[in-house]
Amino acid sequence: MDLDELEQRARALLPADVYDYIAGGSFDEITLDDNRTAWDRIRLRPRVLRDVRTVTTATTVLGVPLAHPIVVAPTAFHRMAHDDGEPATASGAADAGALFTMSTRSTAPIEDVAGALEGAPWWFQVYVLRDRETTDRLVGRAVASGCGALVLTGDTPVLGRRMRDVRNRFVLPSNLGTIESLDRPGNLADQDPGLTFDDIAWLRDRFGLPVVVKGVLRGDDAVRCLEAGAAAVWVSNHGGRQLDGTIATAAALSDVVDAVGTRAEVYVDGGVRRGTDVLKALALGAAAVMIGRPVVWGLAVGGRDGVREVLAALAAELELAMALAGCASVADVTPDLIA
Ligand code: FNR
Ligand code: LAC
Repeated sequence: MDLDELEQRARALLPADVYDYIAGGSFDEITLDDNRTAWDRIRLRPRVLRDVRTVTTATTVLGVPLAHPIVVAPTAFHRMAHDDGEPATASGAADAGALFTMSTRSTAPIEDVAGALEGAPWWFQVYVLRDRETTDRLVGRAVASGCGALVLTGDTPVLGRRMRDVRNRFVLPSNLGTIESLDRPGNLADQDPGLTFDDIAWLRDRFGLPVVVKGVLRGDDAVRCLEAGAAAVWVSNHGGRQLDGTIATAAALSDVVDAVGTRAEVYVDGGVRRGTDVLKALALGAAAVMIGRPVVWGLAVGGRDGVREVLAALAAELELAMALAGCASVADVTPDLIA
């Protein structure tokens, strides 16, 4: 599957401003582009003459057994891409064996999304809103619905400026006026800009679940997150949608992995479009690799089945890349594979 071609198919189906909202990044989209090219620049050193009759991509993430390390990153407003919205995305992900992360900005009720997962593991992404009571209620509903971890997004104290949205005068389509997972209509700008490391322990203690901090790009910040009670860190620059000119995630990963050492798992997202990108991320020390936009393109083009196909194709590509690199298991994917 060619994910760029899939994106073009989605583009043909979606209103132009909706396509731009999903595809775009902030300001000059330097980081958006860099995320892709940074993976492309990394070269592999495959091993020969290893027995790869059976290759398994199976792994565990935060102790949960998964068929492969490919995870769905939280993305907002799925009903903008397809009428079936988040329940379809969740169901497609579960079918492909991919752990699903539900966004605070979901356009379907938390309980419906959890129901569509039919027991498959999922995480809830937390935007701490200025209105802490609403935040508390939303997270409480996610916890009651069975999410396994809370993903605290740390890179969005305020929203980055996306010039495509400015030019398009983009507003959420009116059919999404009642975002039922929220207690009032979605507003992209109501996140609390006052978050600190202390909020990690607040979330963990309030809800008793592991907290993963998303949006970490520096080793020193990763260490502070862990010291403040995080269970894992997620290297991300929000798909190039926040601070433009930010380091590409493929380039930031090693610093974070080195700083964290064996203390916790490190995840990464941003521009991952091939199984070989996933292999490179694992070799650089990531325990899981998250996919943003391609999942939304799959949803736009094919609903639930489209999501499943995107994730299954990436998992199959990872398996192929592992075989060709002489890796029979995820444990064999070690840093010496990187040139
Ligand atoms: C996002 N992302 C995001 N992150 C988050 O923590 N909460 C959210 O609600 C959203 N919403 C969102 C919407 C859209 C349309 C996009 C494209 C992205 C960021 C997302 O989780 C992830 O970090 C990036 O999308 C990863 O980069 P790729 O795979 O899209 O290149
Ligand atoms: C975005 C927000 C919703 O990136 O995270 O559009």
